[in-house]
Parts: sequence; structure tokens; C-alpha cells
Amino acid sequence: MNTKISASILSADFGCLRDELGRAEKAGCDLIHFDVMDGHFVPNLSYGVPVLKSIRHCTDLKFDVHLMITDPLKYIDAFADAGADNITFHEEIPGDKPEVIKKIRSRGLTVGMSIKPGTPAEAVFPYLRDIDMVLVMTVEPGFGGQGFIPETLEKISAIRSEISRLGLSVDIEVDGGIGIKTSPKVREAGANVLVSGSYLFKSEDMAAAVASLRG
Ligand code: DX5
Ligand code: ZN
Repeated sequence: MNTKISASILSADFGCLRDELGRAEKAGCDLIHFDVMDGHFVPNLSYGVPVLKSIRHCTDLKFDVHLMITDPLKYIDAFADAGADNITFHEEIPGDKPEVIKKIRSRGLTVGMSIKPGTPAEAVFPYLRDIDMVLVMTVEPGFGGQGFIPETLEKISAIRSEISRLGLSVDIEVDGGIGIKTSPKVREAGANVLVSGSYLFKSEDMAAAVASLRG
């Protein structure tokens, strides 16, 4: 399966985001991963709609928006208007998930559903026919630069098996601690979209780093 690389700008230099987006695009990244945190669903804050809006024109790459927020429904229109191409929300939110999926679709965007390390693979099974991507968090969401949690590999395999059993073509994205050592493992388990933040943005030669993730 063709591996896509989604560059998480959480680890970029925010003082020169335009240059950092250019660097990711030139290095061969496929997507820009945009992490939104509300200080409630996760114990951290990041950035939101105005930042996406202001950097949208700096790159031709698609924006892969990861909403680590308690109430995604409230903000889907604003992120769609700002230029999101994909919106991923979390399975663990308290709200009505089919409603969130429907809303993202109604804006013509692709839909991702994410699970935290403690959430079982089976939690996404009822939604597989209605979504484009499952995002398996391979660290606890909230911070860049953490260590990969190896127990998540089994969940990736279980979700890939279920997708195949149903004859679907849903993407599996992984996020957290992805670098040269962990990328072969997640690819082998069945992931085909790899988010990488600190490994890519701290690299001297980002094109080589991107190539190393593709394997
Ligand atoms: C963490 C975010 C990630 C983060 C990954 O909550 O969802 O996208 O930027 O960073 P690295 O690749 O450094 O683990
Ligand atoms: Zn993310």
C-alpha cells in the first residue's frame, strides 16, 4: 500500500511557519497535519481556526486537521471555511458521533475518527463504512515528542483486518512517536498514513527523513 506522510506542524518553528510549510512540501510530504487542542479533551492548548486560515495559502498540500477537542460539532463549519480538507475527531467525545460524521461530510471533506491508546480497536468498527480514515494514536494525545506506545500495534492490525474483512478501503493513520525505528512496524501492522512531527521538523535533511518513513 502507498504510504502517505502527514507533517505535524506542532513541532515546526512557529516564527516562520510559511518557510516550514515550504520545507515540508519540498521534502515530499503528502499532507499537513494540523493539531487542534482545547485544554479540556487534552491537557494542552495549541492553535485553531485563525491560524489555519492564515497559512492555508502558503502551501498546495492538503490540510489534515486533528481535532483533540470535546465538542467538534461546534467548529466544523469554521474549520471547513478556513480550508481544512480532512477533519478527524475523537471517538471518546461525549457527543453524537454519527452527527459529527454527517456534518463533516455535508461540507465535502473527508472524515477521520481517532482513538486514544486506551480505547479498544473495536470502538471504531461500527463506523468503518461511514468514515475515510481511522487515526490510531500511538501516544497519549496532547504533546509532540513523546515515545511510541508499542501496544498500539495490535490495534492497528485488528482494525486493518476488519477493514479488509468488510472489503473497504479506509485509511489507517498513526500519530505519535513516528520515526525511523517505528515506521516499519506501523506500516507492517497496516498503517498507510504516517503523521510525524518532531522527527521531520528536527531533521537536517527533511527529504531524507520523509523517504526513511516511506521505507
Ligand atoms: C499529539 C499530536 C501529534 C504530534 C506528534 O497529540 O496529535 O500530531 O504532533 O508529534 P511527534 O511526531 O513528535 O510524536
Ligand atoms: Zn495529531
